[in-house]
Amino acid sequence: MSVLEWSDELRIDNGAMDELHVEFVDLLNAIADAAPEAAITTLDVFIEHCERHFAEEEQWMQACEFPRTSCHLLQHASLLQVARDVRARIVNGEENLAPLLAAAVGAWFRDHVTFMDTMLANHMEDVGYVPQHSDAVA
Ligand SMILES: [Fe+2]
Ligand SMILES: [Fe+2]
Repeated sequence: MSVLEWSDELRIDNGAMDELHVEFVDLLNAIADAAPEAAITTLDVFIEHCERHFAEEEQWMQACEFPRTSCHLLQHASLLQVARDVRARIVNGEENLAPLLAAAVGAWFRDHVTFMDTMLANHMEDVGYVPQHSDAVA
């Protein structure tokens, strides 16, 4: 069962950022829907995505001289820490934690997009900075 649906509520109208967020939603739902034996695999894919997603946003913050980075960076770091901690607990036999993590992260993501990512997107638009994925050809 999906924990989060992609919708206009989540759309920021920032191409590269929205692409990351569509992927985030898909991978989060994959964790929620995974069989217990696939929990670690789906969580690893999600963690890898978050590392790349957050690194890209943080690189965009630097590139556009975004003035309010500290709360945003802290939220990224906290989410990754929680995901890694839950991964360790699943390895130790708590497979039932995966869907609980997915539900909690779904609620976290709604707030994060509404406040942190929207502020960043607004700033990028204000200064005329168009973000690109780091693997995109310059
Ligand atoms: Fe984001
Ligand atoms: Fe973010």
